[in-house]
Order: sequence, then C-alpha cells, then structure tokens
Amino acid sequence: MAQGISKTTEDKKQEFLTPLLHLQNLKIAFETEQGFKTVMNNAEVKIFPQQRVGFLGESGSGKSVSALSILKLLPHPSAQVSGRFFWRGEDMESLATNDFRQLFRWKKIAFVFQEMGAALNPVMTIGQQFDEILTPEQKKNKEVENLLQECGFADPKSVLTAYPHTLSGGMQQRILLALALVHNPELIITDEPTSALDSSLQQRMMQLIENRVAKNKMAWLVISHDLGLVGKYCDFIYVFYAGKIVEEAPAQELLFHPHHPYSLGLLKSDVTLYTEKKQHLYSIPFPTEKKQPLPGCVFADRCSYSQKICFTLSPQYNSIGSNRKCACHFPILESLAK
Ligand SMILES: Nc1ncnc2c1ncn2[C@@H]1O[C@H](COP(=O)(O)OP(=O)(O)OP(=O)(O)O)[C@@H](O)[C@H]1O
Ligand code: SF4
Ligand SMILES: [Mg+2]
Repeated sequence: MAQGISKTTEDKKQEFLTPLLHLQNLKIAFETEQGFKTVMNNAEVKIFPQQRVGFLGESGSGKSVSALSILKLLPHPSAQVSGRFFWRGEDMESLATNDFRQLFRWKKIAFVFQEMGAALNPVMTIGQQFDEILTPEQKKNKEVENLLQECGFADPKSVLTAYPHTLSGGMQQRILLALALVHNPELIITDEPTSALDSSLQQRMMQLIENRVAKNKMAWLVISHDLGLVGKYCDFIYVFYAGKIVEEAPAQELLFHPHHPYSLGLLKSDVTLYTEKKQHLYSIPFPTEKKQPLPGCVFADRCSYSQKICFTLSPQYNSIGSNRKCACHFPILESLAK
C-alpha cells in the first residue's frame, strides 16, 4: 500500500519534471525571391505543466512563427520547418499533420491568434462555431453564454447569431479567447491577446485568462513585445531577437538581473518598470537594414557593450547557473536590484 502511495507521488513529481511541451532545434525558413530565408534558428523551448512562459521580443523577432509552428500552422510549402516536438516526453514527429491537428488543436493546445481575420470562419455564425466544439454537457450548462459575459459581452445571445464580419477586431479577439477557454486545454497560447482592445478591457481579459489558467491548472504561453505584461503574468521568459532566442530566465531574475544587453535595453526602455525603479529611460538604437546576415552577434550593430570579437564570432548560447541561458560574449553580471 505504502509502495502504491509513494509510486503515485513519484509519478506526480515526474509529471511536473517532464515538460508538457518541448521544442528542440526549431528552424523556420520562408521562401523568398532570393531563396529560403531563415527567420528562426536553433530554438529550444520547454513549457512545464501549469507553467506560464513568455515569448518576449520586438516585431519580426520570430515569436509568432515559433508558436504557429507548434500547431503546424505555417503555410506549406513556402515555410520550411525542421526540429523536434515532444509532448509530455513523447516524440510527435511520426504523427501526420491532420492527425496532429485532430489530437492537439483546441483539445490539448488552444491558440488565440494575433491576426483575427484568419481565425474565425466567415461563413458561420459565432454560435455555429461554438456548436461545432461544445460537448452536450457544456451546451446544457449554457457555458458559452456565461463565458461570453465574462469576456465583456453584455448580450451574449445576440453575439451568437452574428457573423464575424459584423464584429469589430476587439470583439473577434474576445470571441476567439472564449473559444480557446471553453476547451479547458492543457496549454493556452495567447499571441498579443489584447492588442485590439482598450487598456481597461485589456487588463480585464488578461485577468480572466489568468483566473481560468489557475482554476483549470493550464500552462500558458504569453507572446508579447510588452515586457511589463510578460513580466506580470509569466514565471519564465524567453527573449527573442532577430530569429534567435538570446536569453532565457525565470521572470523575476530577468527583470532584476538581465544578462543579455538586449534584455537590459528592453528593461531600460520600459516606461512602467523602469520609472518605478526611478531610473532613466533608454532607447535601443534602431536596427540597421541588412541585405544578408552578417557574421558575429545578431545584436552587434545596436549593442553598447560590443567589442571587436562580437562582429566576427557568433556567441554560443551558454548556461549561466542552473536555469538560465544567454547568448553573449560579455554577459552583464551586475544586478539592477539596488
Ligand atoms: N508567411 C510568411 N511568409 C514570409 N515571411 C514571414 C511569414 N510570416 C512571418 N514571416 C517573417 O518571419 C519573421 C518573424 O515573424 P513573426 O511574425 O514571428 O514576428 P513576431 O516576433 O511575431 O513580430 P510581431 O511582434 O510584429 O508580431 C519576420 O521577418 C516576418 O516577416
Ligand atoms: S555578444 Fe557582443 S554584441 Fe552581442 S550582445 Fe554580447 S556584447 Fe553585445
Ligand atoms: Mg507576432
């Protein structure tokens, strides 16, 4: 009996030690007139059960394409994707795309897209789109009406009879959020989930997602260029820059002690976080247009810490301590928490 109990405890421990999702050596390239252009290189991401993970980085850094690749949603054959995908330790490579989507999409992983237009079916009413996925139990309990109300719709019944094109971008975004939440997935991915909303609705929606994530013990991947938002809601952050992950760290450590000069720049240019610490705001120099990738560090032309070697040799993505990594020849080692 005692053995049985300890095995269960051991199993549970193991469940939390094995990533829910593990992306290995992710590489994404898109076809262009000049051949395939790599937009994501050698990324490795782990998301553990119930963990809240942030993808942070400026526009075009590769956050969305990395997330879309998880659900095999990148256009084929113009996007070339390679790498391995593990779910609870199991390699998913052998699953055909359709079987994969059938098994994963919505049920295990739900995704709230950045581009709303493509996400809702234009020829079906919102009610019909919910009907396709609801269980009889959920229909009986009027779960959708309640959820739509939580998502800020005062009259959910009229929304259910509407077609997507009659709704604003902000309304479509909230409907997609409700569609994602109604599944109680194991992982919810929200890509700039509140970008089309005003700031009070933004906060309300983030709070709603946070409550649901906690209540239903989901993992949550938050994609945003907003450091304040990622810092507020995430336990762990991956920093993206120009198609590479340049730093990863527990959120609090990254906020108070960034090792990569780009992460430091993001932090110093964040109005809410940095002025709270009563320090001067800063801006990261604008990127220079590159016709083709230069050798060396991807951040070299904008980095105030760069030295000669940075322009010729690309830094390794090295571990620092037990749970952090950083791609920099000269990582910043002093703490900002003074
Ligand atoms: N369908 C596509 N075809 C060709 N290139 C693409 C396509 N989708 C994305 N890209 C390119 O891939 C790179 C990464 O794009 P991605 O959308 O992941 O950026 P992001 O980090 O999500 O930026 P943002 O914060 O603006 O959403 C960009 O250079 C983008 O132009
Ligand atoms: S490797 Fe050099 S250029 Fe790149 S971030 Fe580090 S110091 Fe800056
Ligand atoms: Mg994006």
